[in-house]
Amino acid sequence: MRMNIARLSRRALVCAVAAGALLAARPAGATVSVCIDSSNPAHAMDQRVVEAVAHQQGTDAAIYQFDGSGAGDDDGFDVKRFSTLAASRCALVLGFPVDATHGAVPEGMRATAPYARMGFVLVTPRSQNAETLADLPRGTDVAVTYLTAPNLYFVKHPNIQADIYPTDAQTIASVVHHTNRAAMVWRASAVAYLPGGEKARDYCLHALSEPHADWNVVALYGPGGATAAAEFQKSVETLRRSGQLAALLRPYAMSPASPIVLAAAETPAAAPAAGGEKPALFTAAQADAGKKAYADNCAQCHGDNLEGMAGPALKGKNFASPKANFHVGDIFTIVSQNMPATQPASLPHDVYVNIMAFLLQQNGMPAGSTALTFDGAKSSTVPLVYSGD
Ligand code: HEC
Repeated sequence: MRMNIARLSRRALVCAVAAGALLAARPAGATVSVCIDSSNPAHAMDQRVVEAVAHQQGTDAAIYQFDGSGAGDDDGFDVKRFSTLAASRCALVLGFPVDATHGAVPEGMRATAPYARMGFVLVTPRSQNAETLADLPRGTDVAVTYLTAPNLYFVKHPNIQADIYPTDAQTIASVVHHTNRAAMVWRASAVAYLPGGEKARDYCLHALSEPHADWNVVALYGPGGATAAAEFQKSVETLRRSGQLAALLRPYAMSPASPIVLAAAETPAAAPAAGGEKPALFTAAQADAGKKAYADNCAQCHGDNLEGMAGPALKGKNFASPKANFHVGDIFTIVSQNMPATQPASLPHDVYVNIMAFLLQQNGMPAGSTALTFDGAKSSTVPLVYSGD
């Protein structure tokens, strides 16, 4: 048996970027142009992410759909050609999968931090739910797609044997038509091809804990896309923190668990605050009032000392880290639009402002003589970086 893992990544590459497919003209005034492969089973998810990011940034999304199925040509990915096109047509190409354990980005390309977790899943009818390959009875035929990673799993699991299909759609169809009692496919394909689409109540999907089963989804960009990539990452992280990202990715994929941070090489040099002084954005009276309002409205989930409970910690190096590259306005937007989690946007404006003053104070920002306002907090681009013990 000869299995070619590399082929899998290249196949994904062909899906992500069909050379020559990115020919639409850039509309005037749009800030970021994004390419989405309409043949990718998760393209609806990518589209939702782009639209939410654009909304976050207060712009319209300029989305170019292209068919990346790479009909006929096995070597459809042409890095050089893409670099040229990426510079002029597409700032970002969404939907590129990278193996989570040791994945690489095509040479000459760069990638954003992952905005989704994708991977291979075990699909079984609900009536015979199996969570792992070991749970399947001896002699079970399991459908897999030609030249994809799950072809490798049969060696380690002698209880199952392979029934190989040319496409994910046919692999899934074999389970739907009861030819096979299980299948291993790319998660987004299972969602796309199971009857009932996103609901698929009659089937169970379980992530496989096997080699090359766990993938990150990134956006690719060329040398001209660095700014767009940084903005994209920042917006995705805001969406992740507010819980919106998870909703956008369901049911195709999962959100990354850890904060999405700029790769070290991409981190813009932090604006050196004059003499290391931090600006005074709020008054001590606001922070005092905020302390009380926090105790009444937030502490039950975020802890009496902002240490985190049901909700994340709102103080300290993990919350306000320089790497997360967050600004006061980003956090205030989350607080005023999404919190308290059970009753979003339910508090008066001045109460939100006071709570924000308290959060800033607790993260080491100084009080001053000018009061923080609702609009001022919302538009503030002052970096929120913890400076305490
Ligand atoms: C019922 C529980 C609950 C209450 C009450 C609540 N929160 Fe949250 N909060 C959460 C949860 C859960 C998250 C994480 C959401 C996610 O990431 O999906 C969160 C996230 C946040 C975040 C983003 C933090 C980060 O690092 O991702 C901030 C800021 C925040 N809350 C502030 C507040 C403030 C201020 C209040 C009071 C006005 C408040 N929350 C009330 C549950 C709550």
